[in-house]
Amino acid sequence: MISKKMQEAINAQINAEMWSAYLYLAMSADAADKGLKGISHWFRKQYNEEMEHAFKFMHYLEEQTARVELRAIAKFPTKWANPLKMFEETLKHEKTVTSLIHNLYAMAVAEKDYASTIFLQWYVTEQVEEEANAQEIVDALKCIGDDKAAFYMFDKELAGR
Ligand code: FEO
Repeated sequence: MISKKMQEAINAQINAEMWSAYLYLAMSADAADKGLKGISHWFRKQYNEEMEHAFKFMHYLEEQTARVELRAIAKFPTKWANPLKMFEETLKHEKTVTSLIHNLYAMAVAEKDYASTIFLQWYVTEQVEEEANAQEIVDALKCIGDDKAAFYMFDKELAGR
C-alpha cells in the first residue's frame, strides 16, 4: 500500500522514463540518418534500458495495487548538430532524471514509506552509472575532436554495446 501522492509521483516518473526512451530513440534515428551505426546502436540500447526503467516502476505500482496511468510524452528535439551535442544533451538529461529520482526518494523518506525507499535505491545507484556512462562518452568525443580515424574507431566501439 502506497499513498496517493506517491502513486501520482511514480506515475509522473513512468512518464519521465518513457520521455527519456523516446528522446534516445530520436537520437538513434538521427544517428542512423547520419550513417553513424555505432552511435545509433548505442542509443537504441539506451532506449531499451529506459523502457525497462519504466516497466520496473509499472510493475511496482501494480504490486502495490496502485493504478498505472500513462500520459502523453512531452516534445523533444529530433535533430542534433553532431554526436558531441547528442551526448552533452544525454548527460544533461540524465542529471535531470537523477534529480527527479532524488525527489521521489526524499518523498518516500518523508512519508516513512520504507518499501518505496528500498525500491528506489536501485534507481539511485542506476543514475550514478547513467551519468558516468554519458560523461565518459562526452570526454572521449572532446578528446577525439576532428580526428576522423579516431572517430571511426569510436563509432565501431559503441556498436559493441
Ligand atoms: Fe531512466 Fe537514463 O534514466
